[in-house]
Amino acid sequence: MAEIILNDNHFLVSQTDSHGRITFANEDFLKVCGFSLNELIGKPHSIVRHPDMPKAAFKQLWDTIQSGKVWTGFVKNRAKNGDFYWVYATIMHATNCSGEKAYISARRKPNRAEIVEAEELYRTLQ
Ligand SMILES: Cc1cc2nc3c(=O)[nH]c(=O)nc-3n(C[C@H](O)[C@H](O)[C@H](O)COP(=O)(O)O)c2cc1C
Repeated sequence: MAEIILNDNHFLVSQTDSHGRITFANEDFLKVCGFSLNELIGKPHSIVRHPDMPKAAFKQLWDTIQSGKVWTGFVKNRAKNGDFYWVYATIMHATNCSGEKAYISARRKPNRAEIVEAEELYRTLQ
């Protein structure tokens, strides 16, 4: 499967409810992953999970954001057609307009050195 390389100015944003179900995704997110907004809304965010991602990374992510802190890290995701793309994500707790608990992730393009480092780290965590 081919790697999708983000543009320098890509900025992929998604929001979830407190259980990690998608409630919003912006145009850049949709363009890169290949899903439509309708296909994503209400689905668990693991819809773009890539099998190479270690469970431990997501445990640390959830432990961090549930304790009210900001998580940053590298994530390898799977697009709808099976291709993959790396992002550097910043994920944090938020509140939606109804006052309900939510989480937001904003993602930029990682550079090649960052990807190589993340690949090595995640291989040891498998
Ligand atoms: C705001 C937010 C954004 C997330 N973004 C991603 C993502 O881009 N890719 C991903 O694999 N998991 C993402 N997750 C983590 C998923 O909720 C999930 O924990 C992960 O895909 C592992 O799936 P599993 O918990 O079913 O094993 C995100 C979670 C939150 C709260």
